Amino acid sequence: MAILITGGAGYIGSHACLEFLKAGHDLVVVDNLSNSHEEALRRVRQLAGRDFPFHKADIRDAAAMKRIFASTPIESVIHFAGLKSVSESVSKPLLYWDNNVAGTIVLLHQMTAHGVKRLVFSSSCTVYGDPASVPIREDFPVSAVNAYGMSKVTIERMLHDLVRADPSWRIASLRYFNPVGADASGRIGEDPNGIPANLVPYITQVAVGKHPFVSVHGTDYPTHDGTGVRDYIHVTDLVLGHLKALDKLEAGPGLVTYNLGTGKGSSVLEMIHAFEKAVGRPIPHRLLPRRPGDVAEAWADPALARKELGWQATRGLDQMCADAWRWQTMNPNGYATA
Ligand code: NAD
Ligand code: WQD
Repeated sequence: MAILITGGAGYIGSHACLEFLKAGHDLVVVDNLSNSHEEALRRVRQLAGRDFPFHKADIRDAAAMKRIFASTPIESVIHFAGLKSVSESVSKPLLYWDNNVAGTIVLLHQMTAHGVKRLVFSSSCTVYGDPASVPIREDFPVSAVNAYGMSKVTIERMLHDLVRADPSWRIASLRYFNPVGADASGRIGEDPNGIPANLVPYITQVAVGKHPFVSVHGTDYPTHDGTGVRDYIHVTDLVLGHLKALDKLEAGPGLVTYNLGTGKGSSVLEMIHAFEKAVGRPIPHRLLPRRPGDVAEAWADPALARKELGWQATRGLDQMCADAWRWQTMNPNGYATA
Protein backbone atom coordinates (compact mmCIF):
# COMPACT_ATOMS: atom_id res chain seq x y z
CA MET A 1 0.00 0.00 0.00
CA ALA A 2 1.26 3.45 -0.91
CA ILE A 3 0.96 6.93 0.55
CA LEU A 4 -0.42 9.56 -1.83
CA ILE A 5 1.49 12.83 -1.54
CA THR A 6 -0.37 15.79 -3.05
CA GLY A 7 1.86 18.77 -3.88
CA GLY A 8 4.87 16.45 -3.63
CA ALA A 9 6.99 18.44 -6.09
CA GLY A 10 6.77 21.58 -3.94
CA TYR A 11 9.13 22.88 -1.28
CA ILE A 12 7.82 20.97 1.74
CA GLY A 13 6.35 18.12 -0.33
CA SER A 14 9.68 17.25 -1.98
CA HIS A 15 11.41 17.09 1.41
CA ALA A 16 8.56 14.94 2.72
CA CYS A 17 8.86 12.55 -0.25
CA LEU A 18 12.55 12.11 0.53
CA GLU A 19 12.05 11.41 4.25
CA PHE A 20 9.08 9.08 3.63
CA LEU A 21 11.10 7.11 1.06
CA LYS A 22 14.05 6.93 3.46
CA ALA A 23 11.66 5.58 6.11
CA GLY A 24 10.68 2.77 3.71
CA HIS A 25 7.25 3.96 2.54
CA ASP A 26 5.97 3.50 -1.01
CA LEU A 27 4.71 6.72 -2.55
CA VAL A 28 2.50 8.06 -5.31
CA VAL A 29 2.84 11.77 -6.05
CA VAL A 30 0.33 14.13 -7.63
CA ASP A 31 1.19 17.73 -8.47
CA ASN A 32 0.05 20.11 -11.22
CA LEU A 33 3.50 21.78 -11.15
CA SER A 34 1.82 25.20 -10.83
CA ASN A 35 4.48 26.25 -8.34
CA SER A 36 7.18 23.59 -8.71
CA HIS A 37 9.43 21.63 -11.07
CA GLU A 38 9.48 17.93 -11.89
CA GLU A 39 13.27 18.18 -11.49
CA ALA A 40 12.71 18.22 -7.70
CA LEU A 41 11.18 14.74 -7.93
CA ARG A 42 14.02 13.49 -10.14
CA ARG A 43 16.46 14.58 -7.44
CA VAL A 44 14.36 13.02 -4.68
CA ARG A 45 14.49 9.69 -6.54
CA GLN A 46 18.26 10.07 -6.90
CA LEU A 47 18.81 10.96 -3.21
CA ALA A 48 16.58 8.14 -1.97
CA GLY A 49 17.76 5.63 -4.55
CA ARG A 50 14.14 4.61 -5.08
CA ASP A 51 11.43 5.22 -7.64
CA PHE A 52 7.73 6.15 -7.34
CA PRO A 53 4.96 7.09 -9.78
CA PHE A 54 4.31 10.77 -10.45
CA HIS A 55 1.03 12.06 -11.90
CA LYS A 56 1.03 15.58 -13.31
CA ALA A 57 -2.57 16.44 -12.47
CA ASP A 58 -4.69 18.98 -10.66
CA ILE A 59 -6.38 17.80 -7.48
CA ARG A 60 -9.52 19.64 -8.67
CA ASP A 61 -9.73 17.26 -11.64
CA ALA A 62 -12.02 14.56 -10.24
CA ALA A 63 -11.54 12.22 -13.23
CA ALA A 64 -7.74 12.41 -12.94
CA MET A 65 -7.89 11.87 -9.17
CA LYS A 66 -10.16 8.89 -9.68
CA ARG A 67 -7.62 7.36 -12.10
CA ILE A 68 -4.81 7.93 -9.58
CA PHE A 69 -6.72 6.23 -6.76
CA ALA A 70 -7.60 3.38 -9.12
CA SER A 71 -3.99 2.96 -10.33
CA THR A 72 -2.33 2.07 -6.99
CA PRO A 73 -3.69 0.84 -3.66
CA ILE A 74 -3.45 3.89 -1.39
CA GLU A 75 -3.63 3.69 2.41
CA SER A 76 -3.24 7.36 3.39
CA VAL A 77 -2.83 10.83 1.97
CA ILE A 78 -0.42 13.60 2.93
CA HIS A 79 -2.04 16.73 1.51
CA PHE A 80 0.39 19.55 0.70
CA ALA A 81 -1.15 20.75 -2.58
CA GLY A 82 -2.30 24.33 -2.29
CA LEU A 83 -1.51 27.92 -3.11
CA LYS A 84 0.23 29.81 -0.31
CA SER A 85 0.78 33.47 -1.16
CA VAL A 86 -1.03 35.76 1.27
CA SER A 87 -0.81 38.78 -1.07
CA GLU A 88 -2.02 36.82 -4.11
CA SER A 89 -4.93 35.50 -2.04
CA VAL A 90 -5.97 39.10 -1.32
CA SER A 91 -5.98 40.04 -5.02
CA LYS A 92 -7.36 36.68 -6.29
CA PRO A 93 -9.58 35.32 -3.52
CA LEU A 94 -11.62 33.05 -5.81
CA LEU A 95 -8.46 31.35 -7.02
CA TYR A 96 -7.61 30.47 -3.40
CA TRP A 97 -11.11 29.28 -2.54
CA ASP A 98 -11.18 27.19 -5.68
CA ASN A 99 -7.67 25.74 -5.58
CA ASN A 100 -7.36 25.16 -1.85
CA VAL A 101 -10.92 24.55 -0.65
CA ALA A 102 -12.61 23.11 -3.76
CA GLY A 103 -9.43 21.08 -4.47
CA THR A 104 -9.55 19.57 -0.99
CA ILE A 105 -13.26 18.74 -1.42
CA VAL A 106 -12.48 16.79 -4.62
CA LEU A 107 -9.65 14.99 -2.83
CA LEU A 108 -11.89 14.09 0.15
CA HIS A 109 -14.62 12.80 -2.18
CA GLN A 110 -12.12 10.56 -3.98
CA MET A 111 -10.69 9.34 -0.68
CA THR A 112 -14.21 8.49 0.50
CA ALA A 113 -15.06 6.74 -2.78
CA HIS A 114 -11.93 4.57 -2.47
CA GLY A 115 -12.27 3.88 1.25
CA VAL A 116 -9.10 5.84 2.15
CA LYS A 117 -9.72 7.56 5.48
CA ARG A 118 -6.26 8.57 6.70
CA LEU A 119 -5.14 12.12 6.04
CA VAL A 120 -2.37 14.44 7.18
CA PHE A 121 -3.24 18.02 6.22
CA SER A 122 -0.89 21.02 5.84
CA SER A 123 -2.43 23.74 7.93
CA SER A 124 -0.65 26.90 9.02
CA CYS A 125 0.04 29.14 11.99
CA THR A 126 -1.75 31.73 9.88
CA VAL A 127 -5.01 30.32 11.32
CA TYR A 128 -4.14 32.06 14.61
CA GLY A 129 -4.19 35.53 12.99
CA ASP A 130 -2.82 38.06 15.49
CA PRO A 131 -2.52 35.96 18.66
CA ALA A 132 -3.38 37.56 22.02
CA SER A 133 -0.15 36.16 23.49
CA VAL A 134 2.83 33.90 22.74
CA PRO A 135 3.68 31.04 22.76
CA ILE A 136 0.65 29.93 20.74
CA ARG A 137 -1.19 26.80 21.86
CA GLU A 138 -3.50 24.72 19.66
CA ASP A 139 -6.53 25.79 21.73
CA PHE A 140 -6.04 29.48 20.88
CA PRO A 141 -8.92 30.94 18.83
CA VAL A 142 -8.62 30.83 15.05
CA SER A 143 -9.05 34.11 13.20
CA ALA A 144 -7.77 34.35 9.67
CA VAL A 145 -7.51 37.78 8.07
CA ASN A 146 -7.03 36.92 4.37
CA ALA A 147 -8.35 34.42 1.81
CA TYR A 148 -5.28 32.17 2.17
CA GLY A 149 -5.72 31.95 5.94
CA MET A 150 -9.48 31.53 5.58
CA SER A 151 -8.91 28.63 3.16
CA LYS A 152 -6.92 26.83 5.89
CA VAL A 153 -9.51 27.64 8.59
CA THR A 154 -12.29 26.42 6.28
CA ILE A 155 -10.53 23.16 5.42
CA GLU A 156 -9.87 22.49 9.12
CA ARG A 157 -13.57 23.08 9.77
CA MET A 158 -14.52 20.75 6.93
CA LEU A 159 -12.27 18.03 8.36
CA HIS A 160 -13.89 18.51 11.76
CA ASP A 161 -17.38 18.08 10.23
CA LEU A 162 -16.21 15.02 8.30
CA VAL A 163 -14.91 13.26 11.41
CA ARG A 164 -18.07 14.16 13.32
CA ALA A 165 -20.20 12.62 10.55
CA ASP A 166 -17.98 9.53 10.13
CA PRO A 167 -15.83 8.84 13.21
CA SER A 168 -13.81 6.21 11.38
CA TRP A 169 -11.70 8.91 9.68
CA ARG A 170 -8.18 9.42 11.03
CA ILE A 171 -6.98 12.96 10.37
CA ALA A 172 -4.04 15.03 11.59
CA SER A 173 -4.06 18.75 10.89
CA LEU A 174 -0.54 20.13 11.29
CA ARG A 175 -0.16 23.87 11.79
CA TYR A 176 3.26 24.81 10.45
CA PHE A 177 5.09 27.85 11.72
CA ASN A 178 7.80 29.24 9.37
CA PRO A 179 9.51 26.42 7.42
CA VAL A 180 13.00 27.32 6.17
CA GLY A 181 16.24 25.59 5.17
CA ALA A 182 16.77 22.69 2.82
CA ASP A 183 17.86 19.08 2.75
CA ALA A 184 21.48 18.82 3.91
CA SER A 185 22.50 17.51 0.46
CA GLY A 186 21.83 20.94 -1.09
CA ARG A 187 20.05 19.13 -3.94
CA ILE A 188 16.45 20.07 -3.06
CA GLY A 189 15.22 23.30 -1.53
CA GLU A 190 12.84 26.25 -1.76
CA ASP A 191 12.61 27.69 -5.28
CA PRO A 192 10.19 30.62 -5.13
CA ASN A 193 8.71 32.10 -8.29
CA GLY A 194 9.79 35.69 -8.90
CA ILE A 195 10.84 37.96 -6.04
CA PRO A 196 10.40 36.08 -2.75
CA ALA A 197 7.93 37.54 -0.26
CA ASN A 198 9.31 35.48 2.62
CA LEU A 199 12.27 36.54 4.66
CA VAL A 200 14.67 33.61 4.32
CA PRO A 201 14.61 33.15 0.53
CA TYR A 202 14.97 36.91 0.22
CA ILE A 203 18.04 36.93 2.49
CA THR A 204 19.67 34.11 0.50
CA GLN A 205 19.03 35.98 -2.77
CA VAL A 206 20.61 39.14 -1.31
CA ALA A 207 23.58 37.08 -0.16
CA VAL A 208 24.02 35.69 -3.67
CA GLY A 209 23.82 39.21 -5.17
CA LYS A 210 20.36 39.12 -6.79
CA HIS A 211 19.05 42.04 -4.70
CA PRO A 212 21.06 44.88 -3.11
CA PHE A 213 19.71 44.65 0.46
CA VAL A 214 17.19 43.02 2.78
CA SER A 215 14.29 45.30 3.77
CA VAL A 216 13.70 44.93 7.50
CA HIS A 217 9.95 45.56 7.68
CA GLY A 218 9.36 47.32 11.00
CA THR A 219 11.68 48.20 13.87
CA ASP A 220 9.07 49.47 16.33
CA TYR A 221 7.31 46.22 17.26
CA PRO A 222 6.99 45.46 20.99
CA THR A 223 9.71 42.77 20.68
CA HIS A 224 13.19 42.60 22.22
CA ASP A 225 14.86 44.38 19.26
CA GLY A 226 11.80 45.98 17.66
CA THR A 227 11.71 43.65 14.63
CA GLY A 228 9.14 40.92 13.96
CA VAL A 229 9.56 37.59 15.74
CA ARG A 230 8.70 34.22 14.16
CA ASP A 231 9.22 30.52 14.83
CA TYR A 232 11.54 29.36 12.02
CA ILE A 233 11.62 25.58 11.70
CA HIS A 234 13.95 23.46 9.56
CA VAL A 235 11.96 21.86 6.74
CA THR A 236 13.47 18.43 7.54
CA ASP A 237 12.30 18.66 11.16
CA LEU A 238 8.89 19.72 9.87
CA VAL A 239 8.50 16.74 7.54
CA LEU A 240 9.71 14.31 10.22
CA GLY A 241 6.70 15.57 12.20
CA HIS A 242 4.50 14.20 9.40
CA LEU A 243 5.99 10.72 9.81
CA LYS A 244 5.19 10.90 13.53
CA ALA A 245 1.67 12.16 12.77
CA LEU A 246 1.08 9.21 10.46
CA ASP A 247 2.22 6.85 13.25
CA LYS A 248 -0.21 8.60 15.58
CA LEU A 249 -3.10 7.87 13.20
CA GLU A 250 -2.35 4.16 13.73
CA ALA A 251 -3.37 4.63 17.35
CA GLY A 252 -7.00 5.34 16.63
CA PRO A 253 -9.63 7.31 14.72
CA GLY A 254 -10.49 10.99 15.13
CA LEU A 255 -9.10 14.42 14.30
CA VAL A 256 -5.93 15.67 15.97
CA THR A 257 -4.34 19.10 15.57
CA TYR A 258 -0.72 19.97 16.33
CA ASN A 259 1.55 22.97 16.09
CA LEU A 260 4.78 22.16 14.28
CA GLY A 261 7.24 24.77 15.49
CA THR A 262 10.41 24.87 17.55
CA GLY A 263 9.01 26.87 20.46
CA LYS A 264 11.70 29.51 19.95
CA GLY A 265 11.04 32.95 18.47
CA SER A 266 13.72 34.70 16.39
CA SER A 267 13.65 38.30 15.21
CA VAL A 268 14.34 39.52 11.68
CA LEU A 269 17.68 40.95 12.81
CA GLU A 270 18.64 37.69 14.55
CA MET A 271 17.84 35.84 11.33
CA ILE A 272 20.01 38.21 9.29
CA HIS A 273 22.88 37.77 11.78
CA ALA A 274 22.54 33.98 11.73
CA PHE A 275 22.82 34.12 7.93
CA GLU A 276 25.87 36.35 8.14
CA LYS A 277 27.52 33.53 10.13
CA ALA A 278 26.57 30.94 7.50
CA VAL A 279 27.69 33.10 4.59
CA GLY A 280 30.80 34.50 6.29
CA ARG A 281 30.19 38.15 5.42
CA PRO A 282 27.75 40.96 6.25
CA ILE A 283 24.28 40.89 4.65
CA PRO A 284 23.29 44.43 3.60
CA HIS A 285 19.97 45.44 5.13
CA ARG A 286 17.88 48.57 5.60
CA LEU A 287 15.54 49.40 8.44
CA LEU A 288 12.13 50.29 6.93
CA PRO A 289 8.52 50.78 8.09
CA ARG A 290 6.24 47.85 8.94
CA ARG A 291 4.76 45.65 6.20
CA PRO A 292 0.93 45.96 6.27
CA GLY A 293 -0.83 42.95 7.78
CA ASP A 294 2.18 41.61 9.72
CA VAL A 295 1.88 40.57 13.36
CA ALA A 296 4.58 41.45 15.89
CA GLU A 297 5.23 38.00 17.22
CA ALA A 298 4.15 34.43 16.41
CA TRP A 299 5.83 31.37 17.87
CA ALA A 300 4.59 27.97 18.86
CA ASP A 301 4.09 26.09 22.04
CA PRO A 302 5.07 22.68 20.61
CA ALA A 303 4.41 20.79 23.86
CA LEU A 304 1.38 18.88 22.55
CA ALA A 305 3.28 17.46 19.55
CA ARG A 306 6.16 16.54 21.86
CA LYS A 307 3.84 14.76 24.30
CA GLU A 308 1.48 13.03 21.86
CA LEU A 309 3.67 12.50 18.79
CA GLY A 310 7.03 12.12 20.50
CA TRP A 311 8.30 14.72 18.03
CA GLN A 312 10.40 17.81 18.49
CA ALA A 313 12.55 19.95 16.22
CA THR A 314 16.27 19.36 16.70
CA ARG A 315 17.88 21.60 14.06
CA GLY A 316 18.79 25.13 15.19
CA LEU A 317 19.06 28.46 13.36
CA ASP A 318 22.68 27.85 12.37
CA GLN A 319 21.80 24.65 10.55
CA MET A 320 18.70 26.20 8.94
CA CYS A 321 20.85 29.02 7.54
CA ALA A 322 23.77 26.78 6.52
CA ASP A 323 21.43 24.40 4.66
CA ALA A 324 19.46 27.23 2.97
CA TRP A 325 22.79 28.76 1.91
CA ARG A 326 24.15 25.46 0.55
CA TRP A 327 20.99 25.00 -1.56
CA GLN A 328 21.23 28.60 -2.83
CA THR A 329 24.91 28.40 -3.76
CA MET A 330 24.60 24.98 -5.40
CA ASN A 331 21.48 26.11 -7.32
CA PRO A 332 21.76 29.88 -7.88
CA ASN A 333 18.72 29.84 -10.18
CA GLY A 334 16.84 27.13 -8.32
CA TYR A 335 15.82 24.09 -10.37
CA ALA A 336 16.19 26.15 -13.55
CA THR A 337 19.98 25.83 -12.98
CA ALA A 338 19.61 22.20 -14.06
P1 NAD B 1 4.76 24.93 -2.61
O1 NAD B 1 4.03 25.92 -3.46
O2 NAD B 1 6.22 24.80 -2.79
O3 NAD B 1 4.11 23.48 -2.79
C1 NAD B 1 2.75 23.28 -3.07
C2 NAD B 1 2.69 22.31 -4.24
O4 NAD B 1 1.31 22.06 -4.55
C3 NAD B 1 3.35 22.87 -5.50
O5 NAD B 1 4.21 21.90 -6.02
C4 NAD B 1 2.18 23.13 -6.44
O6 NAD B 1 2.54 22.97 -7.80
C5 NAD B 1 1.17 22.12 -5.96
N1 NAD B 1 -0.23 22.48 -6.21
C6 NAD B 1 -0.86 23.63 -5.91
N2 NAD B 1 -2.14 23.57 -6.27
C7 NAD B 1 -2.34 22.34 -6.80
C8 NAD B 1 -3.45 21.68 -7.37
N3 NAD B 1 -4.64 22.29 -7.46
N4 NAD B 1 -3.31 20.42 -7.82
C9 NAD B 1 -2.10 19.80 -7.75
N5 NAD B 1 -1.01 20.38 -7.24
C10 NAD B 1 -1.13 21.64 -6.77
O7 NAD B 1 4.40 25.28 -1.10
P2 NAD B 1 4.99 24.64 0.23
O8 NAD B 1 5.72 25.72 0.95
O9 NAD B 1 5.65 23.37 -0.03
O10 NAD B 1 3.64 24.40 1.03
C11 NAD B 1 3.00 23.13 1.09
C12 NAD B 1 1.73 23.26 1.92
O11 NAD B 1 2.08 23.73 3.22
C13 NAD B 1 0.73 24.26 1.37
O12 NAD B 1 -0.56 23.72 1.57
C14 NAD B 1 0.93 25.47 2.22
O13 NAD B 1 -0.24 26.25 2.33
C15 NAD B 1 1.32 24.87 3.56
N6 NAD B 1 2.11 25.76 4.41
C16 NAD B 1 3.28 26.30 3.91
C17 NAD B 1 4.01 27.17 4.71
C18 NAD B 1 5.25 27.82 4.19
O14 NAD B 1 5.65 28.86 4.75
N7 NAD B 1 5.94 27.29 3.19
C19 NAD B 1 3.58 27.46 6.01
C20 NAD B 1 2.41 26.88 6.48
C21 NAD B 1 1.66 26.03 5.66
C1 WQD C 1 8.81 36.77 8.48
C2 WQD C 1 9.25 38.04 9.19
C3 WQD C 1 8.29 40.04 8.25
C4 WQD C 1 10.35 39.70 4.39
C5 WQD C 1 4.16 33.88 6.02
C6 WQD C 1 2.68 33.69 5.77
C7 WQD C 1 2.14 32.64 6.70
C8 WQD C 1 2.94 31.35 6.65
C9 WQD C 1 4.40 31.61 6.80
C10 WQD C 1 1.99 29.81 5.05
C11 WQD C 1 8.12 39.05 9.40
C12 WQD C 1 9.80 40.03 8.06
C13 WQD C 1 9.86 39.49 5.66
C14 WQD C 1 11.26 40.77 4.16
C15 WQD C 1 11.16 41.33 6.47
N1 WQD C 1 2.83 30.69 5.37
N2 WQD C 1 10.26 40.31 6.69
N3 WQD C 1 11.64 41.55 5.20
O1 WQD C 1 4.83 36.76 7.39
O2 WQD C 1 5.57 35.17 9.23
O3 WQD C 1 4.35 34.29 7.34
O4 WQD C 1 4.81 32.63 5.85
O5 WQD C 1 1.07 29.36 5.69
O6 WQD C 1 0.82 32.42 6.31
O7 WQD C 1 2.03 34.92 6.00
O8 WQD C 1 6.68 35.05 6.97
O9 WQD C 1 8.87 35.14 5.88
O10 WQD C 1 7.06 36.70 5.08
O11 WQD C 1 8.10 37.10 7.28
O12 WQD C 1 11.51 42.08 7.39
O13 WQD C 1 11.70 41.01 3.01
O14 WQD C 1 10.20 38.71 8.35
O15 WQD C 1 7.86 41.34 8.55
O16 WQD C 1 8.37 39.67 10.63
P1 WQD C 1 5.33 35.42 7.78
P2 WQD C 1 7.71 35.98 6.20
